[in-house]
Amino acid sequence: MTPNYILSLSLSGHFRLLLRLRPINLFRSKMSSFHHHYDSDMNGTKPTIKKSKLSFITPSEIDAQFSHHDSAVARINNGSFGCCPSSVISAQNEWQLRFLRQPDDFYFNGLQDGIQRSRSVIRSLINADHVDEISLVDNATTAAAIVLQQTSWAFAEGLFRKGDAAVMLHYAYGAVKKSVEAYVTRAGGHVIEVQLPFPVTSNQEIITEFRRALERGKADGKKVRLAVIDHITSMPSVVIPVKKLVQICREEGVDQVFVDAAHGIGCTDVDMQEIGADFYTSNLHKWFFCPPSVAFLYCRKAQKGFDLHHPVVSHEYGNGLAIESAWIGTRDYSAQLVVPSALEFINRFEGGIEGIKRRNHDTVVEMGQMLAKAWGTNLGAPPELCASMIMVGLPPCLEISIDSDCLKLRTHLRVKFGVEVPIYFRAPKDGEIIRSIVTGYARISHQVYNKIENYYKFRDAINQLVKDGFTCKLLHE
Ligand SMILES: Cc1ncc(COP(=O)(O)O)c(C=O)c1O
Repeated sequence: MTPNYILSLSLSGHFRLLLRLRPINLFRSKMSSFHHHYDSDMNGTKPTIKKSKLSFITPSEIDAQFSHHDSAVARINNGSFGCCPSSVISAQNEWQLRFLRQPDDFYFNGLQDGIQRSRSVIRSLINADHVDEISLVDNATTAAAIVLQQTSWAFAEGLFRKGDAAVMLHYAYGAVKKSVEAYVTRAGGHVIEVQLPFPVTSNQEIITEFRRALERGKADGKKVRLAVIDHITSMPSVVIPVKKLVQICREEGVDQVFVDAAHGIGCTDVDMQEIGADFYTSNLHKWFFCPPSVAFLYCRKAQKGFDLHHPVVSHEYGNGLAIESAWIGTRDYSAQLVVPSALEFINRFEGGIEGIKRRNHDTVVEMGQMLAKAWGTNLGAPPELCASMIMVGLPPCLEISIDSDCLKLRTHLRVKFGVEVPIYFRAPKDGEIIRSIVTGYARISHQVYNKIENYYKFRDAINQLVKDGFTCKLLHE
């Protein structure tokens, strides 16, 4: 094997020599630029390299950090539940033991400072004005309940009038839609869904549909009180032009804008000044390497008058959402306390969070294109509308004909082939015939632990099904 070398400039401004071990093909060589780089110790070839500053995590260290993953499974679904490296799990265990060792000391002398440190880390990462704008909660579902609960009170207390509208995407996450039903529809709000095309080809399609929905909301002199906008929709997965949509909301006088970015931090650009929403939530257990479960909810401080409370009321009720959320009764707070440890892990990678994001994006696009080419299908969105996940069309001959086929096929791939990947049903439109168009799209993810073999395993599993003449009807019995 002939090693080859590339010289690159690290973020700290030092040149470093990268040793590429396996320049095999396009995919592999691109993957290897981050999976297989090492600081050179080539006997003085680069004597001035400061190793301590430049020793990024190595491929074998990455493997060790995720050695608890089931090696029999090609896990190309980071999007659903994220991942947590062993160094962060150890840090979490430390916190848990600290509590169990002396709970009172932990409660009086550790917990609140620890949560404050985690909130500060998030504040600077997302460019919020003040740490008070950041609350830590269990997950995006809880964050949505907090925001929507205050919408419900606004209706109940006469601030909003019955029939006033809330706008959300048709592809909003199922659990969040239920929350809108429970808190907004039930309170008298009129919910309007933004229909989005899929496959999608450009931001403009999304913007046009969004404007249309706002127009409907404002018909008959009604007001649009709330817009719920996903930053990255879950299924199908598409990056939404949130900055533009928030700007449109401001122009059109929408009272409140909530961005549901369950997949935000670590996956796409998250800057509160840029985006300009009133509320923004992102899970930290999906793309930020925290254990389940922790998310942040950002609430813009300049916007006075929001009556936000944690749905679990406890001693701190009335002391501000961040403080309320930091004590909602006796429970395990360790996931909220390891945010600095997760950042420490992230900073072992070249370019930190930005580097991870960029490489995940580049590789998932490459893998998506590789799969679409192998199956003769198409991507569900162009690369610029994808972050670290991408939708890939499955061969039409699999005859994915109804929603439930997706879950059955997903289970079949897990059980028979050791591949974990979610699948989306794209119903045929009038005149379209199943078997002649793509009706199923797989959502593939890329995270630092993934290897090219994971995607080859998926490709080969589908190729095998096609070769065997498999159709989803076979799963109907
Ligand atoms: C867009 C979106 N919102 C909300 C959620 C809910 O996240 P959680 O289950 O962590 O609360 C998800 C989960 O995938 C999601 O994709």
